[in-house]
Amino acid sequence: WVNHHGLVRAAEKVKLRQGDLFARLSGGPEGIENPYALIEEMRGAGGLHRVTSAWITFDHDLCREILRDNRFGTGMPELVPLSGRARALLQRRPIPPNPVDPPSMLMIDQPEHTRMRKPVAAAFTPRAVARLRDRIAGVTDELLTALPDDGPVDLVTRFASQVPIAIISEMLGFPDSDREMFLQWGDEISPLLDLGISWQAHSRAMKASERIHAYLLDHIERLRAEPGDDILSSLVTAADLTDHELCTSATLLMGAGFETTVNLIGKGIVWLLEHPDQLDRLRAEPELWSNAVEEVLRIDAPVQTTARVALTDLEIAGRRLRPGSTVVLSLAGANRDPAVFPDPARFDITRENAKNHLGFSSGIHVCLGAGLARMEATHALRALTETFPDLRLTDPPTRRPLFTLHGYSHLPAHTGAR
Ligand code: HEM
Repeated sequence: WVNHHGLVRAAEKVKLRQGDLFARLSGGPEGIENPYALIEEMRGAGGLHRVTSAWITFDHDLCREILRDNRFGTGMPELVPLSGRARALLQRRPIPPNPVDPPSMLMIDQPEHTRMRKPVAAAFTPRAVARLRDRIAGVTDELLTALPDDGPVDLVTRFASQVPIAIISEMLGFPDSDREMFLQWGDEISPLLDLGISWQAHSRAMKASERIHAYLLDHIERLRAEPGDDILSSLVTAADLTDHELCTSATLLMGAGFETTVNLIGKGIVWLLEHPDQLDRLRAEPELWSNAVEEVLRIDAPVQTTARVALTDLEIAGRRLRPGSTVVLSLAGANRDPAVFPDPARFDITRENAKNHLGFSSGIHVCLGAGLARMEATHALRALTETFPDLRLTDPPTRRPLFTLHGYSHLPAHTGAR
């Protein structure tokens, strides 16, 4: 879960030129507030083009091709040749060791990837996810009952973040009382996925990782002695994973389980409340809900980018890439590629091919929790808007200060009557 690409950028201390669109997209408030204006400007530069220290693409089909191409990997440090300057900097100021060792499935290539993913995947089959339906409905109803009638509410802290954290905590067998602590840890480790993370943010994240790791080792030891009927217990008893591998899988599931879905639910609320005609349509034709969630994932990706590293000398999209070259894949840009999605900035819950978005990535690392996230978001958004038909936003939403895990930290709203 540690972002090597980010670390190399930090180590190189790349001085980004003023006016560099990529720097503006990945390195500051402008790229967080409105990434799409910058994405559209950069799309004009062509399919695969060079930015400061990497290649980048916003092209839907090319992103998908690279994600499925085994000549690319997720970029483990030993595979990536560092520049002489980066090496010198790293010698002077070494990257603090990553306490979560070995890396999670998200950061490893084949054949190890399958060994790590397979046992966890058993808990996310369509049948396993379908069994969670009632629990998701129950959690959502409890949260909605606790919201004020006709009163002010922050829809992120009281609702959007609470649905996914409750479900993933239960799935992993954690006590309810630890949820707020997980949210705090999530805030501390999430910046690791951003490009160009600062040393301060990195060391805060490493300290949080250490605390998470210690917490999980302890939890795993308890489950070995007394297994429950949660995913982690079944991994502890059945899977051929070491305790450290179990820890990294659990950390990934926890982080991926709530740090992304909160963004999908938050964005869904904003897109629907800002497009009342679309919400009316959903009230008249509730069977459109699942496509509406796909359209939110498409138009405003909760995970905006990922990256891959060339493992060999290769040619793609007319470019020659050397081993170690990083390619940034803008999932958000791919989802607004006009060649695939006509009039891409238009929010249309009836869009026929909305589901072809790359919001959950593609290839071997395609999101394991996609079915769960879809079910949580569909249920949460529908129940919220049906319970409070006059729900409205009262103040401008606050963005999370993150570029990759893109979403809102606060959504001040007024519920209206039930
Ligand atoms: C991987 C997005 C929810 C578990 C990914 C990737 C993306 C993604 C883009 C792949 C990154 C890459 O290719 O480099 C999302 C979004 C979500 C969401 C947008 C919600 C809206 C979840 C949930 C879970 C989950 C709820 C589990 C409880 C995972 C795991 C991986 C993953 C385990 C790693 C798979 C692998 O490396 O083989 N997700 N995710 N995600 N996601 Fe999700």
